[in-house]
Amino acid sequence: DPHTGAAAALAALHAEHAPEHLEVSAKSYRVDPYARPGERYATVRALAAGGAAAAEALLGELKEAGLRGMGGAGFPTALKWRTVRDAVGDEKFVVCNADESEPGTFKDRELLASLPHLVWEGLLLGALVVGARRAIVYLRHEYELERRVLAREQEIAARIAGELGVALEIFVSPGGYIMGEETALLEGLEDRRGEPRNKPPYPGIAGLFGQPTLINNVETLTMATAIAARGAAWWKAQGLRGCAGLKFVSISGDVVHPGVHELASGTTIAELIALAGGVPGGAAVQAVMPGGASTAFLGADALGTPLDFDHLRRAGSSLGSGAVIVVAEGRDMLELGANVTRFFRNESCGKCVPCRVGTEKAVVLLDRWLAGEADEGTPELLRQLDRTLAQTSICGLGQVALLPVVSILDRLPPTRPARRS
Ligand code: NAI
Ligand code: SF4
Repeated sequence: DPHTGAAAALAALHAEHAPEHLEVSAKSYRVDPYARPGERYATVRALAAGGAAAAEALLGELKEAGLRGMGGAGFPTALKWRTVRDAVGDEKFVVCNADESEPGTFKDRELLASLPHLVWEGLLLGALVVGARRAIVYLRHEYELERRVLAREQEIAARIAGELGVALEIFVSPGGYIMGEETALLEGLEDRRGEPRNKPPYPGIAGLFGQPTLINNVETLTMATAIAARGAAWWKAQGLRGCAGLKFVSISGDVVHPGVHELASGTTIAELIALAGGVPGGAAVQAVMPGGASTAFLGADALGTPLDFDHLRRAGSSLGSGAVIVVAEGRDMLELGANVTRFFRNESCGKCVPCRVGTEKAVVLLDRWLAGEADEGTPELLRQLDRTLAQTSICGLGQVALLPVVSILDRLPPTRPARRS
């Protein structure tokens, strides 16, 4: 039986490359559908055997599950896969965006280190569904341990990929926050300067070398594998409070144990903070950034909000990249807002004027405010700048650069007066 033979060969390879040889600890996660290494890549074999009908069935499961992009934007995964499947091109590509760089975000790092087989499996599923013959993991350059783990797993995945005519590759990002923006990433893969392109066209229509390209985050591909293996009904049943599925979240800031947690979607922010050991010294929470540096701060009144896309949007923020940053009472919110703004000013690629000039202008205004030398018009000027950047910047960096600081002005008015008394 060729299947039994392949499974035995895979089991042997996995035994050879057992986690203890990889300097990472083997952890058990609910999202992993496989009890034994030899069972892995079963969804790929089933999809390859099932042809077009199986591809349509998988798209149906992803749609039914309601899986959304876990990089931060929450775009419906089934719709993205469908777009690339239906797009016309000379060739097609699939890319796993593993250039995780949003401040506070380190959940993909854990997935790459602990569940690399689900990442390659998801990438292969995507390749088969859209008809790509080249599959690339685009990896953050500081993730050297994860690169080694991925490379070991690649040897196993490549056996199946080779049979299916798909080439697997790990591409180490040249480095820099903006290189994780999906179109700057494409420029990087094309060996060009890493600046975002205008969208549309979206990469699903015209991506790498102008060809239809499926780009998904590490966690999205991991979850797609779990849904392919266990089905949409299982996936939906994993959530709490009417939310569907699982969510990997990193928590940092003022908590006793920063780390990564695999949560049932719908777990509240307060429950996550408790899992992280609470706030040091039992201090009260002043504010929370629920989805990394690109998301609006929420006040302590929002701690009961379930962690999922819709609940956090209704609360006035976003799930973003699944990175909860906790701020305890006593921290200077204006200094924090200025710090986030400086980050975006520093990471702006400079391609478009609103972001290049606007972020610098905002930093100057905030530094003057911190020095007690701003005037009463400064908050309104910052709000106007935010609106301008949101409407006119080419990419997400400029569009959200002032969102955090404006959320502080709106929800947590800094006690510091603009002018020294
Ligand atoms: P976006 O909303 O422009 O696009 C989201 C995804 O959907 C993209 O892959 C895009 O190509 C696709 N898409 C959108 N409309 C489409 C259409 N009509 N047809 C086909 N595909 C379509 O958002 P973007 O700029 O890609 O991501 C922004 C988010 O990234 C932010 O919300 C932030 O949370 C997150 N982010 C995450 C980081 C990380 O390290 N994980 C770093 C920085 C930001
Ligand atoms: Fe570059 Fe900022 Fe324009 Fe994005 S918004 S393209 S980071 S200058």
